[in-house]
Amino acid sequence: MCGIVGYIGSNTAVSVLIDGLKNLEYRGYDSAGIAMNNDSKINVYRAEGKLSNLCNVLSSSSFDEYTKGIGHIRWATHGAATLDNAHPHKSNDGSVVLVHNGIIENFKELKSELTEKGYNFFSQTDTEAAANYIDYCYKSSVSLEEGVIKAVNGLKGAFAFCIMSENEPDKIIAVRKNAPLIVGLGENENFIASDIPAIIGKVSKIIYLDDGDIATVTKDNIKVKDFAGNVVNKKVETIAFEAEAISKRGYKHFMLKEISEQSDIIRNTLAERLTGTNLPINLAGVKVEEILSKTKRIEIIACGTSLHAAMVAKNIIEAFAGIPVSIEAASEYIYRKNITDAETLVIGISQSGETADTITAIKQAKDKNSHIMVVTNREDSSIVRYADSLLPLRAGIEVSVAATKSYTAQLVSLYLFALKLAEAKKTVDNIDLRKFKQELLEIPAKLEQILSGSKSIKEIADKYYKIKDFFYIARGANVATAMEGALKLKEISYINANGYPAGELKHGPIALLDENVVVMSVLMPNSSTYDKIISNCEEAKARKAKLIAVTSSNDEYLNVLFDEIIKIPEISEELSPILANIPLQLMAYYISDNLGREIDQPRNLAKSVTVE
Ligand code: M6R
Repeated sequence: MCGIVGYIGSNTAVSVLIDGLKNLEYRGYDSAGIAMNNDSKINVYRAEGKLSNLCNVLSSSSFDEYTKGIGHIRWATHGAATLDNAHPHKSNDGSVVLVHNGIIENFKELKSELTEKGYNFFSQTDTEAAANYIDYCYKSSVSLEEGVIKAVNGLKGAFAFCIMSENEPDKIIAVRKNAPLIVGLGENENFIASDIPAIIGKVSKIIYLDDGDIATVTKDNIKVKDFAGNVVNKKVETIAFEAEAISKRGYKHFMLKEISEQSDIIRNTLAERLTGTNLPINLAGVKVEEILSKTKRIEIIACGTSLHAAMVAKNIIEAFAGIPVSIEAASEYIYRKNITDAETLVIGISQSGETADTITAIKQAKDKNSHIMVVTNREDSSIVRYADSLLPLRAGIEVSVAATKSYTAQLVSLYLFALKLAEAKKTVDNIDLRKFKQELLEIPAKLEQILSGSKSIKEIADKYYKIKDFFYIARGANVATAMEGALKLKEISYINANGYPAGELKHGPIALLDENVVVMSVLMPNSSTYDKIISNCEEAKARKAKLIAVTSSNDEYLNVLFDEIIKIPEISEELSPILANIPLQLMAYYISDNLGREIDQPRNLAKSVTVE
């Protein structure tokens, strides 16, 4: 949510900044801006909307002499997506220029304090209050660094800043508190970014700033202090991703690329962890014995798609390991009195590891001495620092805002965990344990089979893409599949789509059904509720809804009942959510593509939601 990039060196800054922002565009696209410094002045260029608009603004000028700069891509929080609210923001006299990711919670107080001191405000943002406040503190300090240290102690909330001043043109100051920021180390040049994709391919060595770090970055030096002004020694690490990870590799959209690579991703997720049906599951990083020695119940906390993975996890952990599991949206968990305690295993699931709600919830649980297990795709993310146990997804960088490969990797990882608990507790007999392991090992091949049939899924999407209402129904663990299918469709196509437990249809939503509605149902033939869901589909058919099935069933009657059938390979009901979701991802993709949507960057959304 919002992206930041900074460059200081001997090369032209503009291309580094624009390249960096391009790779961060998935974090926000309400406006974009850069500020560049040529040692005598700082010029700011901004544009509403996508980065391409900023590129148009910049296209007629040459910026060869500007070798330092900061850039920003905005997802609007305080203040509409207008030019006035676009970053970078300047202090009144222009001596401080900054970009910001996060929210300054006490900006109203600061604004009124600063107004009394004669400062004027030209935007509705919290960020402008920070720019003027830093300027105010700087004016009574011997250096920009000292001014920033004074100012950050008076700011409340979450902030990652890149700050420049015309008075000290040889440096950029980077600050991190509850919003990620890294410094990339080059030869005679250094970089700052809110996430690795911004600097991937440009440097291989980075420093992860921690909360409370202030880095003064020059072209040949990086000095880090804490908010009290004490020097902090930082570890230099190597970037774990190749530039290839953020290329579309010829696909029209990142989403399609990410859907298509899922069988390889799952091979990676399973590698070394599950190597044979007679061998124990090996989850290095997960302290299974410690967990089992003290866990009476499990709480899983997540948001969005990760919450759907949590729904599946509840089903399988209870079924395989017999441990009670509750799940909750992080944004709800953090504002209610809960019963989390030292005997609760708290699992935080977050693809990005930067979701503010999930991090806050995990921090709260940590304070209650719960064992914290983090399931994330980003081992370098903020949530990891609270983890007692860590289960990385190994899905590679996910660029598309719509989560696809990370969801499948979350499911497979959580199945491994549930089966590991069952193995340790002996709650599933050996024959079944071997069967489930065998099924997991077969997942990549079955994913390939589904993906190779994507043409027929596209044909169905071509037929129905103009429909304005979709219902997704299922039972058991696939209720999560229905909800995830609906979320995927609505977020990228803007079509009204809702997921329900199939049995709930008759308790209200059925009132909406008519010939203009599509009902997508997931039904597994070996399920105890197969006949029930058939009845639910009959009820929908009686209201003239169009029916599409995702199933592995060969039941002839389905050809009579359904308008379309999408076949998936046979799989046990327990593991079916892994496969059943893939056609729904493809349906959402093809429908949205037919509608000409901006699939990788859907309106109003951002990849990681770093504000509560
Ligand atoms: O990074 P996280 O898994 O914590 O993100 C949670 C949600 O914001 C995310 O899943 C969101 O719902 C996606 N856009 C879904 O495609």
